[in-house]
Amino acid sequence: MWISFAGIITNYKDVKQFLVQKGHKFRSDTDTEIIAKLIKHIHGLHPNYSFRELVEQVIQQLEGAFALCFKSMHFPGEVVATRRGSPLLVGIKTKTKLATDHIPILYSKDSPEKVELKEHSKLKDTQSDHRPHGHEIPAHGLARSQSTSEFLPQGDNKEVEYFFASDASAIIEHTDRVIYLLDDDVASVEKEGVLKIHRLKRTLEDTHAREITTLKMEIQQIMKGNFSSFMQKEIFEQPESVVTTMRGRINFDSETVVLGGIKDYIGEIRRCRRLLLIACGTSYNSAIATRQLLEELTELPVMVDLASDFLDRNTPIFRDDVCFFISQSGETADTLMALRYCKQRGALIVGITNTVGSSICRESHCGVHINAGPEIGVASTKAYTSQIISLVMFALMVSEDRISAQPRRSEIIQGLRNLPDQIKEVLELDSKIQEISKKVFEKKSLLVLGRGYNYATCLEGALKIKEITYMHSEGILAGELKHGPLALVDKGMPIIMICTRDNVFVKCMNALQQVTAREGRPILICHKNDQEPQKYGSSVLEVPKTVDCLQGILTVIPLQLVSYHVAVLKGCNVDCPRNLAKSVTVE
Ligand code: AGP
Repeated sequence: MWISFAGIITNYKDVKQFLVQKGHKFRSDTDTEIIAKLIKHIHGLHPNYSFRELVEQVIQQLEGAFALCFKSMHFPGEVVATRRGSPLLVGIKTKTKLATDHIPILYSKDSPEKVELKEHSKLKDTQSDHRPHGHEIPAHGLARSQSTSEFLPQGDNKEVEYFFASDASAIIEHTDRVIYLLDDDVASVEKEGVLKIHRLKRTLEDTHAREITTLKMEIQQIMKGNFSSFMQKEIFEQPESVVTTMRGRINFDSETVVLGGIKDYIGEIRRCRRLLLIACGTSYNSAIATRQLLEELTELPVMVDLASDFLDRNTPIFRDDVCFFISQSGETADTLMALRYCKQRGALIVGITNTVGSSICRESHCGVHINAGPEIGVASTKAYTSQIISLVMFALMVSEDRISAQPRRSEIIQGLRNLPDQIKEVLELDSKIQEISKKVFEKKSLLVLGRGYNYATCLEGALKIKEITYMHSEGILAGELKHGPLALVDKGMPIIMICTRDNVFVKCMNALQQVTAREGRPILICHKNDQEPQKYGSSVLEVPKTVDCLQGILTVIPLQLVSYHVAVLKGCNVDCPRNLAKSVTVE
């Protein structure tokens, strides 16, 4: 048995205990092994089941979030794949065009045996050899034969190749045609090379077919090119990725913003009770980065929540709430759970994602695709800056009808216009940042201080540093210094401080002086040619000035580069940091 598995099986101990009682021996303590032993066990009891039926039996016993792909010597030439809570897609490669762009769902007939087995979550055994659902029922209006014969290439060359992957970037070099599987879909490729998709039960919400989508991704977008890592490439792509985020949405001359994915909902959004921004990690930091502007331009109360904490609290949600779910992957389990929680309570669901066809995309009422291009490095960089721009564009669109907001809107729109060139200027600091990184890479800790719009930069910079360098790092709101963190400051503590000319500049200078009075010698990120803060810095990184609400985009890039260079100097795997995954599809 060959199994490819992503995710987590939460009841694996119960399953293992059951299998041990049945005499199975285990070589490891992994959840993957229990899946292999479980399918073997069911195959022993029901040798007449097809490969797909065995997999259907297995997943009925499993709890958790997973994507699974099975091959077996007992079923040569066949593959069965399924998902629940973790993303899974099927890439299809043919020489000629397929006869259909949809594949119908086949429903397996319910039977008492199946129900009985389901109640076996406690894994009591049954010796019954009845097929639990050996009878296939096609979807509404589709003849059984249509599901197979139509899903073949046109012409004489019937050759088809299938690719199973969690992410489209893994298969784009082979094919751009994919089917995104939904939870509990069981896709099987049988000997004759025909793909079938089964579901155990027919539900009202089901669309009864899965669409074949053509990916817009280019191969070169997922190649490293001259860069040493995807993360480095993605940092340096930001002058272009911010442009693609804005393309077709902002008219810089008429100063108008149209987000096609939410324009039909804008009236409802303007009338709402409050905006909730819910996300994890970097995506959460992008919500922190834009909260102040959203409050200012929408004049609505804005709540920002970490998805896991939001779920822990059973937060009250109302029908007139508008809930934003921000996620690069669109698959983050906590964010998706929070989305479902809010949807059940009748709120309007807005998805802000970078992945077309992702679960968050599909389950939102409306949304914005951030168009940053594929992000492969586990550390999120270009998605962060594009998320900020997407939320800024949303604030601009909502406030279009407010006369008093026009000067502010105009200033921001012109700021967005200049951003790509300013990002290029920041990226020119790269070699200076590499030198600074040499001074800190052997230290134990690195504090990042700032306030106002730069607070999100502190959180995001510290997250990047922790994530890929394994060094302790903390983003600290400068206003909180004297409530605790100041005790950490001495001449040996590495500190990066952000001090740009905005409405909290004076307060930041005050914090800077408190730090230097304790012999701290921070590395300063400040505006170009701004002498006043520079005299307090051990080193200075000068960034161009932009509108306050966009400044975080220019101040975070030096920190992305610091984390990158420190990780390289420490010999860490920049793209795949230990213990972390790009899509966190488990709670
Ligand atoms: C960012 O560098 C991290 N890899 C992580 O915090 C990430 O942003 C978080 O897991 C949320 O992911 P999402 O944006 O795909 O939902």
